[in-house]
Amino acid sequence: MALCVHRIVPSAGPEGQAASLLPGVRPIIRVMPAPEQSSDRPDVYTHGHHASVVGQHARRTAERDAAFLLPRLRPGMRLLDVGCGPGSITIGLARAVAPGETVGTDVVPEVVEEARARAAAEGVTNLRFAAESIYGLSYPDASFDVAYAHQVLQHLARPVDALREMARVLRPGGLVAVRDADYATMVAWPKSDAIDRWLEVYHAVATRNWADADAGRRLPSWVRAAGFADIEVTGTVQIMTDPASTSNWGESWADRTLESSFGAQAMEYGIATRAEMEAVAAGWRAWAADPEAFFMYTQVEVIGLRRG
Ligand SMILES: C[S@@+](CC[C@H](N)C(=O)[O-])C[C@H]1O[C@@H](n2cnc3c(N)ncnc32)[C@H](O)[C@@H]1O
Repeated sequence: MALCVHRIVPSAGPEGQAASLLPGVRPIIRVMPAPEQSSDRPDVYTHGHHASVVGQHARRTAERDAAFLLPRLRPGMRLLDVGCGPGSITIGLARAVAPGETVGTDVVPEVVEEARARAAAEGVTNLRFAAESIYGLSYPDASFDVAYAHQVLQHLARPVDALREMARVLRPGGLVAVRDADYATMVAWPKSDAIDRWLEVYHAVATRNWADADAGRRLPSWVRAAGFADIEVTGTVQIMTDPASTSNWGESWADRTLESSFGAQAMEYGIATRAEMEAVAAGWRAWAADPEAFFMYTQVEVIGLRRG
């Protein structure tokens, strides 16, 4: 996907979200999650692993999606990529630390299998994958130099517990690196009531899953709460403006609205009706076909040091 990427110094936005409504559609009252560390909240992965989701994730690269981390990597480092999904970023990270070993983990065995196949097809040999949860990694204490989580903490009910587990497997002086979008920063042009409604529904589904779609702004405090030091915060403004990118993004979200776990959950939770979701998907497709389509949002990136 061709993107314009601008490095910025981030500023924290307000918690909460202004409602914007389609005429006649009931408002969603967004309740901010209460303290998120309770272990009686099961994770429900909002996106699921429909081909429309995993295909989008597989377009990612370390060069673009871990650009803030790459300058800190050295050959010979041992790196862990948690919630690695289809592994396209993990492969680039493995190349950056070769001959050091990289391990990619994800809680879903099928996507781990896909990552394994992708790495084999690309001939990357210093990389292996395992199906396991971020909350209970199977590696000894202090066994990695770097631990990365890309677009993962936004989906978790207990992000600080996950970061503490990443800290456990890092050696003293090792680096944690996390990157998450902040959905409240997402804006589309031309304006679209359907896309506004999509954003409301997405927030409501994530909140119902004990997750925070606006995780980007919370990353620094989560990383601090997990005990990391020397925290560095950067941001990337992601802009899609060429027709290839906007068409892919819009068509992908149209498919995801109707066919992925996100759409199914929205209807199952009573957040949106099938008719509304069809209207949202149609709105995404209309936007995707518009030669003036433009989409922009902020990604927040944090690096922290494991204390000695
Ligand atoms: C948005 S995808 C990101 C995938 C990859 N990091 C990337 O950016 O392309 C989030 C991934 O986190 C995984 N995940 C969700 N909950 C998890 C957990 N508790 N432990 C490990 N992985 C988890 C999901 O299965 C999914 O593959």
